[in-house]
Amino acid sequence: MSTSKTKDKYKIAVVPGDGIGREVMEATIHVLDALGIDFDYVYGEAGDECLEKTGSALPSETLDIIRDADACLFGAAGETAADVIVKIRQEMKMFANLRPVKAYPHTNSLSDDIDFMIVRENTEGMYIADEESYTDNGAIARRIITREAEERIINYAFNYAKENNKTKVTAVHKANVLKKTDGLFKEIFYEVAKDYPEIATEDYYVDATAMYLITQPETFQVIVTTNLFGDILSDEGAGLVGGLGLIPSANIGLNAALFEPVHGSAPDIAGKGIANPIAMMLSAVMMLRYIGENEAADRLDGAILKVLNEANILTGDLGGSATTMQLANEVKNNL
Ligand code: NAI
Ligand code: MG
Repeated sequence: MSTSKTKDKYKIAVVPGDGIGREVMEATIHVLDALGIDFDYVYGEAGDECLEKTGSALPSETLDIIRDADACLFGAAGETAADVIVKIRQEMKMFANLRPVKAYPHTNSLSDDIDFMIVRENTEGMYIADEESYTDNGAIARRIITREAEERIINYAFNYAKENNKTKVTAVHKANVLKKTDGLFKEIFYEVAKDYPEIATEDYYVDATAMYLITQPETFQVIVTTNLFGDILSDEGAGLVGGLGLIPSANIGLNAALFEPVHGSAPDIAGKGIANPIAMMLSAVMMLRYIGENEAADRLDGAILKVLNEANILTGDLGGSATTMQLANEVKNNL
């Protein structure tokens, strides 16, 4: 996902959204501003409040802002999340959903030795949501797997492994039952793998993977899988490392990329200034790598890790009593 640094100035679309989305975004911009990189932030509106104000949860101006930018930072939307984030992914053809699963200190992680990436296909599979009712009490859903989309995501996973010093990619499927769709996925995986002889391969059934994630999470490096399985395993991954406040994600397309925390607008704590901004900041780390600012990414990642290690200034979800901006300032001081 990383490119080499190509620009002196970056146009970043900033869509804070609703609730704590705004709070964690403010904290993250505060920290990004201290990196000495020339960012031109262009703010866009989306979400529940935007719907109330403008009649649309995702105005076309916001889509244009995202389209024109080098990358987008997205906070969280509330009840309109599906209309906002799913629509952005579709409109921008963001085919890869990346969910890192990494254990940080002083968190409820199941093991200290967890650090893998889930690369989820984002455009087809079960989530084309092509459903129809065929009787009063029955329904059919179609699941689509195409060579084009699967080759693209599997290549993405191998390239990610190569660029991030990972030595193995694991394909996850259910080809013993879904012989045609997942049979094809598995076949393509091993075809593509031939182009990456330096990367080891393995494939597991999704049900077994669900168990291995608990029993041997340290053996995974990069997982590549189809849409629905990726969605489910990602949330299992979140549970593995404990705490929504720490989990970032990326949505990558050919011409657009969006970085967002996995959590939502958290109405129960919104407006109090106590949300954990780290998931949003780690999303910004992924953005920095995407635009090729690897050194800045390492600095920000390192500062966050230091704050978590020292455990003096932590938000409530991590057992501390610091505010969102106090944590942001602590990260900034450690850059
Ligand atoms: P949520 O992620 O907003 O909150 C779940 C629980 O985790 C809450 O108790 C919340 O306080 C806590 N939490 C989440 N992020 C935190 C953080 N950074 N620091 C500290 N605590 C944190 O999910 P929930 O409650 O299911 O949904 C709330 C709203 O968010 C809904 O309207 C939902 O539609 C929306 N949502 C939006 C998403 C998006 O924009 N991508 C994703 C998930 C939910
Ligand atoms: Mg999900």
